[in-house]
Amino acid sequence: MSHLLFEPLTLRGLTFRNRIWVPPMCQYSVETLDGVPAPWHTVHYGAMARGGAGAVIVEATGVTPEARISAKDLGLWSDTQRDAFVPIVDFLHTQGAAAGIQLAHAGRKASTYPEWGTDHDGSLPVDEGGWQTVAPSALAFDGLAEPRALSEAEIAEVVAAFRSSARRAIEAGFDFVEIHAAHGYLLHEFLSPLSNNRTDSYGGTLENRARLLLDIVDATRTEVGEDVPVFVRLSATDWTDGGLTLDDTVHVAGWLKEHGVDLIDVSSGGNVMAKIPVGPGYQTNLAAGVRQGSGLPTAAVGLISEPFQGEHILATGQADAILVGREYLRDPNFALRAADALRFDIDYRPAQYHRAYK
Ligand SMILES: Cc1cc2nc3c(=O)[nH]c(=O)nc-3n(C[C@H](O)[C@H](O)[C@H](O)COP(=O)(O)O)c2cc1C
Repeated sequence: MSHLLFEPLTLRGLTFRNRIWVPPMCQYSVETLDGVPAPWHTVHYGAMARGGAGAVIVEATGVTPEARISAKDLGLWSDTQRDAFVPIVDFLHTQGAAAGIQLAHAGRKASTYPEWGTDHDGSLPVDEGGWQTVAPSALAFDGLAEPRALSEAEIAEVVAAFRSSARRAIEAGFDFVEIHAAHGYLLHEFLSPLSNNRTDSYGGTLENRARLLLDIVDATRTEVGEDVPVFVRLSATDWTDGGLTLDDTVHVAGWLKEHGVDLIDVSSGGNVMAKIPVGPGYQTNLAAGVRQGSGLPTAAVGLISEPFQGEHILATGQADAILVGREYLRDPNFALRAADALRFDIDYRPAQYHRAYK
């Protein structure tokens, strides 16, 4: 039987022990509202690393306070935050998982109520602790407050904020970083013609709309050095006429490859309300399209919840790794379960639990 899920993968100076990874998933668990990770994060991420994941990517983490989706998001704009990540990263390493972090700016979808723990949804008003959101253009996301269009000087500040957060990520010990350019957040808003009607060098053609993302990739590389993999998460399609298409995404991935990106994490949607054909592996064909069209490695994500389903995705050359989200929340030992299912002998079952398997 093939065991591709358990074949190590090397990108630059980093070897992942397997190809079952945990995608970024917001926890909205910073009760102190200061972006500093809490015990919840240590236990939550630690459990999935102990459960055999090859990589754990920490949730969308704001590069500035205004970049957060909600006030309960993680942040990496201060050294205090950086220092609080160190024990989390150290623990992931003791469990053999590679530690990644998704650096993010929520753009026009920032300043919302946290997804749970409140009766409200939508934009958090400024007098309740919310803030003015920013975007490429003053176009609101359905049901959210109208953003302010960023000036060119402010765009440069966004690049600088990603750069400083990337530096702090490396200082905290993270092995790789992922830049969030999907799901209708700031960088996707720039990429998509549905949310970007700028007339300067950041709007208009696809190349112009990709400029901010490429600037951020370059700035990130300067900070992380040559040995550290840089991932980009893209929404490969807006699922809407007149929006981003897979073909556009293949072009963008080609430029990202030229700029030294190591892997595309292929998601979809989120920039406008759209009908998405959600079902098992519903985004895997997009990962395959990006992989084939750009030649870059991809990670597939989206309702991948069975070991054999994951093995099939790799065996058919659709992606180089799988990201298992909600199934990992249900079962933080998913990778250990997958090893059993594939009858593959791994040497990283926690010794502390051996008596459970006798
Ligand atoms: C609780 C939760 C939080 C999420 N937060 C993020 C996030 O921070 N960044 C991101 O890019 N995607 C986020 N997502 C999307 C997941 O990374 C993943 O792409 C999606 O859940 C589909 O994969 P799945 O079907 O395996 O869950 C989140 C999903 C869930 C369920």
